[in-house]
Amino acid sequence: MSNYLLEVQEVYFEYPGGIRALNGVSLAVERGKKVAFLGPNGAGKSTLFLHFNGILRPKKGRILYDGQELVYNRSFLREIRRKVGIVFQDPDAQLFAGTVFQEVSFGPMNLNLPSKDVRERVESALSAMGIRELMDRPVHLLSYGQKKRVSIADVLAMDPEVVVFDEPTAYLDPRHAGELVEMLDGLHAEGRQVILSTHDVDLAYSWADQIFVMKDGRVIGGGSPEEVFMDDELLKRADLKKPLLVEVSDALRQMGLLDGRFPKNARDLLECLREGR
Ligand SMILES: Nc1ncnc2c1ncn2[C@@H]1O[C@H](COP(=O)(O)OP(=O)(O)OP(=O)(O)O)[C@@H](O)[C@H]1O
Ligand SMILES: [Mg+2]
Repeated sequence: MSNYLLEVQEVYFEYPGGIRALNGVSLAVERGKKVAFLGPNGAGKSTLFLHFNGILRPKKGRILYDGQELVYNRSFLREIRRKVGIVFQDPDAQLFAGTVFQEVSFGPMNLNLPSKDVRERVESALSAMGIRELMDRPVHLLSYGQKKRVSIADVLAMDPEVVVFDEPTAYLDPRHAGELVEMLDGLHAEGRQVILSTHDVDLAYSWADQIFVMKDGRVIGGGSPEEVFMDDELLKRADLKKPLLVEVSDALRQMGLLDGRFPKNARDLLECLREGR
């Protein structure tokens, strides 16, 4: 077993028309870490994600999963897509069919499971996303946030080792965004690897163990959330704001009210302040 779950080595990718989306991306995702990708619009996050299970193929460079280089033949791709599930940024690009049940059962059915098992998987994926009652509704008539949740159930029903979420909280209301983060932690606790992209710096800061910052088709920085969000130069280059908690913690430190710790939520911060008194 490789120490790295995913490795990307000097990957270049162009869309038709010569649009250069990836310009030599290199990175290694450590096994067991909760990983977040940050970066401005057009940085290449979604394009990179589609390389993780071979939906897109590098023009140059290599992708490795568990130390093994991706091979672009039918049997390898089938296998890697079972292991690495991707929830697309745009649910309309991912969802295609009929009712919610038909949509979410499509993947498991293609694994040739008995229909009882298919139904179980669909029901448990829909329950995990709180949309069991939408089972018989036509997908195309759902709200965008509901579609986003169906697209996540789609991937959960495949029982993947790695779940890649491209902006999972976009379009979700605050309650469902909160529940989604709990669900991500649930997947992690089950031993699955979770990788996401987000424009929500507060989420990246409080949730992730490892962060990559992308811009112009490259990884321009990364590290622990503390390292990334203390690096003012990097934040400026990537047009990123500081998370509110980091701003508040910085200010409290300057006032001599907080030590060198980095509280990750309001409760931790209050705890630190209480201890410091
Ligand atoms: N299907 C496509 N055809 C042509 N060009 C594309 C396509 N998808 C993305 N691009 C271009 O590739 C580059 C990288 O886009 P990508 O969607 O990967 O960025 P991103 O980091 O995911 O951005 P966002 O934060 O807006 O989701 C951009 O210049 C974009 O315009
Ligand atoms: Mg994107």
